[in-house]
Amino acid sequence: MIIAVDGPTASGKGTIARALAEEFGLPHLDTGLLYRAVGRQAVISDFNPDDPVEALCACGFPDELLNDPELRTEETGGLASRVSVHPGVREALYERQRSFALQEGGAVLDGRDIGTVIIPEEADAKLFVTASAAARASRRFREMQSNGVETTLEEITAQIEARDKRDEEREDSPLKPAEDAYVLDTTLMKKEEAISAAIRAVKRMV
Ligand code: C5P
Repeated sequence: MIIAVDGPTASGKGTIARALAEEFGLPHLDTGLLYRAVGRQAVISDFNPDDPVEALCACGFPDELLNDPELRTEETGGLASRVSVHPGVREALYERQRSFALQEGGAVLDGRDIGTVIIPEEADAKLFVTASAAARASRRFREMQSNGVETTLEEITAQIEARDKRDEEREDSPLKPAEDAYVLDTTLMKKEEAISAAIRAVKRMV
């Protein structure tokens, strides 16, 4: 079984993808981490993330970088969304994502273009997880507060809006639901409700 989970930042797609992987006994790939590693590598190498050639050079990051806690920060998320607009960067990460998805036994991948670009034909179930910008900002804000990060709701809201805009407006592989995706709006849902709804939706699709 191959499951594609796409959606905007802080929509709950990562939590849902992990829960689906556990429920169906499948390996999981958080593809955002790959773009985050490119953004982080650009900083480490002093490359300009907005320059397509320099960003492409950052795609040669070492695998160990994927474990760097710095990858989880909102700052790296912003860098990831800047490097991810370059078609060369997306192409450089394409095969890695496809071969993970097509491994024997199946897989769960979450990202922005899994159901539309990476495995549009191969996915057995496609979910597009979303929530209002206000709900996503307040979730991210609470998460950061509990991690002891000093920030404000206004700052988080502005970051989320900037990231949404860049992800939705880029020419190559913009964030949008696949035509055959089940759209799950988690705005009013608790985590457990969202997970159960996602499991039910996948069972209906396969
Ligand atoms: O999902 P996450 O917040 O970790 O993704 C970071 C950024 O990487 C996103 O804002 C998006 O610009 C980019 N990304 C992408 N395609 C994916 C996954 C992430 O463009 N499949």
